[in-house]
Order: sequence, then structure tokens, then C-alpha cells
Amino acid sequence: MDRKVAVLLNEQINKEFYSAYLYLDIANFYTKKGLDGFANWYEVQAKEEQDHAMLMYRYLQNNGEEVTLEAIDKPDKIFDTLMDPLKAALSHERYVTSLINTIYGVAQEEKDFRTTQFLDWFVKEQGEEEKNSMDQITKMELYGDDSRSLYMLNSELAARVYSAPSLVL
Ligand code: FEO
Repeated sequence: MDRKVAVLLNEQINKEFYSAYLYLDIANFYTKKGLDGFANWYEVQAKEEQDHAMLMYRYLQNNGEEVTLEAIDKPDKIFDTLMDPLKAALSHERYVTSLINTIYGVAQEEKDFRTTQFLDWFVKEQGEEEKNSMDQITKMELYGDDSRSLYMLNSELAARVYSAPSLVL
């Protein structure tokens, strides 16, 4: 595998674990606010982020590359309103999309088509994650100020169940 691609993928493992940490922090915020459905949704999201990290970890190992685990940053976002974490999540997902796109671009330049094929799943996944985030912001804008509607929205998010990623290495 191209050295630059391997280094970027190794760095991305850390970013994905940071994403899990950020979403756990968001879940913790909503638990404190008494919104267990929102907390559930972000706890499931944190598990998905760990899966993303593990897929990259295994992919590097399967290709004979070194994996080096670095320290995970402390989540440092300050949340005041119920909307704040939703906006933080969207901006974080957009950032992650830009990182995946960068790795994809380098892999393409280096003709590392095994990696571009591996990353195709992540490109699609980022589209879904940004849409989920945008939908949550829209719903909070529409219903967040009404306690009964917020209760319903919380119940909807409580129904999310974790399932393992569809990508198998
Ligand atoms: Fe692993 Fe939410 O991107």
C-alpha cells in the first residue's frame, strides 16, 4: 500500500474513535437533560463510529500495514441548548466527509484502487450520516419548542437499535 494512504488511514482510525467519544459526550448531555431517546440515538452512533475505526484498523492489518494507536482528544464542545449538539454533530460529520474525501483522492492519485473500493462504503455512509444530522436539526427546529412534540421526537429516537456495519472485510 502507498505510504501516504496508509498514514492517512491510520490517522483516520483516531478520528473515528474521537467521533465515538464526541457522540458519547452528546449522549451524556441528553441524559442529563432527561431526553433518553436522544441519548440512545447518540449511544448507538458512538458504537457505529467504533465500527468505522475497527474497519480501518482491520483493513490496514489485512494489508500488512502497521497500526499505531494515538491518544484520543477530549471532546471539548460546549452544549447549552438542545439544538447545540445536533449542530455540532452535523459540522463534525461534514469535517469527517472532507477527511474521507482527502484519503480517497490520495488513493486515487496513487492508483491504490483496493483502497478506493474500500472507501466507497465510507463515502456513502458519510452521505447518510450528514442526512441524519440535517433531519434531526429540521425536526428540532419544527418541534423543539413544544413539549409534547419533543416527547414524541424523543420516543422516535429511542427506537434506534444498533446493528453491525454492512461492510465486511
Ligand atoms: Fe465515521 Fe460519522 O463518520
